[in-house]
Amino acid sequence: MMNFEYYTPTKVVFGKGTVEKAGELVKQFGGSKVLIHYGGGSVKRTGLLDRVKAALDAAGIAHVELGGVVPNPRLSLVYEGIELCRKEGVDLLLPVGGGSVIDSAKAIGYGLANDGDVWDFYDFKRAPTACMPIGAIVTIAAAGSEMSNSSVITNENGWLKRGCNTDYCRPKFAIMDPELTMTLPAYQTACGCADILMHTMERYFNFDVMDLTDALAEGLMRAVIAASRELVADPNNYEARANVMWASSLSHNGLTGCGAGGGDWACHRLEHEVGGMFDVAHGAGLAAIWGSWARYVLPEDPARFAKFAVNVLGVEPQADATATALKGVEAMEDFYRAIGMPTNLRELGVEPTEAQILELAEKCDIATRGKLGAVKHLTREDMANIYRMAK
Ligand code: NZQ
Ligand code: ZN
Repeated sequence: MMNFEYYTPTKVVFGKGTVEKAGELVKQFGGSKVLIHYGGGSVKRTGLLDRVKAALDAAGIAHVELGGVVPNPRLSLVYEGIELCRKEGVDLLLPVGGGSVIDSAKAIGYGLANDGDVWDFYDFKRAPTACMPIGAIVTIAAAGSEMSNSSVITNENGWLKRGCNTDYCRPKFAIMDPELTMTLPAYQTACGCADILMHTMERYFNFDVMDLTDALAEGLMRAVIAASRELVADPNNYEARANVMWASSLSHNGLTGCGAGGGDWACHRLEHEVGGMFDVAHGAGLAAIWGSWARYVLPEDPARFAKFAVNVLGVEPQADATATALKGVEAMEDFYRAIGMPTNLRELGVEPTEAQILELAEKCDIATRGKLGAVKHLTREDMANIYRMAK
């Protein structure tokens, strides 16, 4: 196993009715005027925005708001948010939504706490040295941004989707009420489950992981798979909602990667380019790519894929590790189909031309600076091959 650092400074407030604690939590973390940041309108339709405002008013916290964050959040709105917060004297950011809204808030937070163009931090030009405090109210179990060190923003100029990872942006607190996620369309619930699983799978597919981390990872993945299936049958199942919501945070706060030396992350980076170019839902994009990636890299470490097949998916061991591993890939794809997720790009609704495949591979290679993959290091040609297999 590798040495590791584990840092999770986020205070988690979990369960029914926790939104009403928003004002007190803002106060506790030193906020007096917040930006309520949200997406395309679900928070208005569900009445959540009014509940948040009432909780802030009750605690005497002033607020301004900025909606309009779209999935694959855009840089232009980040600039607007920075300007608004400067003008209004905002001292804490309160995203109410999913990964897109929280990531947009993180980018605003970087812009407020550092001089110069915030895109520089996503474009590898320089690193931020601070971020304005953030408290997240989570409405979808998926990206895990409420506890992660990551923010992913899309620059409309060139449709570049890029991440910036630092501990500064980890939220100070996160309110997680599983009931809030019951208004999600089934497709978004499933996308979230696919993303949660992939955050642990990215860390799991790696060499020399410690036994305890493997056990935590396998338990989390089994629980998410079971809850995802339950949610297809019964979207209002509170226990299942709670399981995936807590898993979304634990799957991306570093816990399931301790000692794993960073993880593989090829599927994420390959997907980010697809998301940037074709604006697809992140979780669905991951599901569409995973099977092709797995078959492509599996010969590098069949035993690891076989362990995943047996311990996570309940596959019967076959004559050799490769056969077991391949059964596992099939079982995972069956699971994706069962929850309504695509298993290739066509099912995702994307049919890239050969020129677009080469462009995706080139962008991914540049974004990862020639260093992608732990199970197998992927060259630009490998990336193009995986996109071709996923067509
Ligand atoms: O915009 P609204 O109207 O709110 O609708 C949203 C959006 O259309 C809807 N939604 C959210 N909560 C809802 C709801 N609809 C009804 N009821 C609710 N309770 O769901 C849609 C998707 O929302 P989004 O925030 O985009 O989902 P998600 O949490 O999956 O975030 C995806 C983004 O996060 C990035 C992805 O790349 C993508 O841009 N990621 C961020 C990470 C991080 N910061 O750590 C890690 C991930 O790997 C990922 O890359
Ligand atoms: Zn993800």
